[in-house]
Amino acid sequence: MGRVTELLLSGKGILDALYDGVVVVDDRGTIIYVNEAHVRITGIAQEEAVGRHVTAVVPETSLPAVISTGQAMVGVRTRVGGHEVISNIVPLRDGTRVVGGVSVFRDLSEVTALGRELEKARTQLRHLKGELLLSRGEDRGLVIGRNPAMQDVFRVAHKAALVGSNVLILGESGTGKEVLARFIHTESPRHDKPFLTVNCAAIPETLLESELFGYEEGAFTGARRGGKLGLFELAENGTLFLDEIGDMSLPLQAKLLRVLQGKEIKRLGGTGSRLVDVRIVAATNQDLEALIEQGRFRRDLFYRLNVIPLRLPPLRQRKEDLTLLVATVLAKVRMSTGKPLDGVSPDAMKSLLAYDYPGNIRELENILEQAAVMTEGRVIGRDDLPEGLRGRSPRATVPAPSRIADREREAMLEALQAYPSKAEAAKALGISRATLYRKMARYGMKP
Ligand SMILES: Nc1ncnc2c1ncn2[C@@H]1O[C@H](COP(=O)(O)OP(=O)(O)O)[C@@H](O)[C@H]1O
Ligand SMILES: [Mg+2]
Repeated sequence: MGRVTELLLSGKGILDALYDGVVVVDDRGTIIYVNEAHVRITGIAQEEAVGRHVTAVVPETSLPAVISTGQAMVGVRTRVGGHEVISNIVPLRDGTRVVGGVSVFRDLSEVTALGRELEKARTQLRHLKGELLLSRGEDRGLVIGRNPAMQDVFRVAHKAALVGSNVLILGESGTGKEVLARFIHTESPRHDKPFLTVNCAAIPETLLESELFGYEEGAFTGARRGGKLGLFELAENGTLFLDEIGDMSLPLQAKLLRVLQGKEIKRLGGTGSRLVDVRIVAATNQDLEALIEQGRFRRDLFYRLNVIPLRLPPLRQRKEDLTLLVATVLAKVRMSTGKPLDGVSPDAMKSLLAYDYPGNIRELENILEQAAVMTEGRVIGRDDLPEGLRGRSPRATVPAPSRIADREREAMLEALQAYPSKAEAAKALGISRATLYRKMARYGMKP
């Protein structure tokens, strides 16, 4: 027993308690000591290892090199007993003379396994958080389901709720634009302030103007005494939902833009203007880009509104959620009709799945409500469904525009896959690259 052994003895118990492998050699490289972790990692018993040359036990070890150079090596990746390890090797000195060396190493596979466990736990947590968020929407009567596009919309909507930015909701009629707007409001810090809705398509232009901005007494003949507060003032600190924004007239668009830029409104017939704090959520089923190109919608207003765009998928593109939607809608119908309904028959479900729903969720609601009235039993059968649904031609009722959109989308996907660059794909499609990018954005395709 040499000097190295004596140095060791006092600390031996501690070394055995370590999780890292420890091997100590003398100046010739003969193993003098290995700790218990070394045994665990190498699978070689203490008695067997001690007394042998270290390279006989760990062929790739750098211990001999450290002893001959006297230079420590840190963070060396090697293999020990079939395990990948990372080791720190230092020379042991007696004064200036190197009398041996110590290698301390950690099994990387154990480290990576732990890391993987941690990553798994993190993923689960993220997943649970996501589920929690989705179920929050579902608590509010918003079916989100499994459709990835819908889940994305919902996640962004939830984030949008927390900031004050303007939101533009796009989607065909009946896809849930209003429901989503309401959700954004109820999830926002403004939830205890008003949520007001105005349908820009349903009200004549002059009336819409006074609805939005209000008027002073005597502003026009027939104006109410004392004037009238506009929606902007009534929605103060809350949210104003501008539905069918694509139908707003150009002059009104200009006025709206001024409000959005300056945050001030002027009543009709009024002189002064006042500051308002209203969050705008706008929605449309129209193609605003096309309207802009036709000069029917202001580009600058579009940019103001389009801070956070949310594109709701049409029901025919989220058929995986249909069963869930049917169940939710039936629960609603049960409440409104008071009829005891257990569900739909497998036949009827098949027909419902095959249909294309040009009117989206609203149409599904109508179909199920009608069927609920029709049915004599507690289960809605195929015969209770409207005639158009019972047949075999599911695409027959889709209106032309959406079919064109679907075809356009398909053609773009094909071209993008077939050509290595966007420029070539655009050329093949006979459109400019800018148009291709715009259309890709419109259809929610990733660049
Ligand atoms: N995600 C959804 N889950 C359940 N019902 C929905 C959902 N989206 C919309 N609806 C229902 O569909 C109908 C149409 O929704 P709405 O928000 O008015 O559509 P839009 O404004 O796009 O025309 C409403 O009765 C609404 O309750
Ligand atoms: Mg609507």
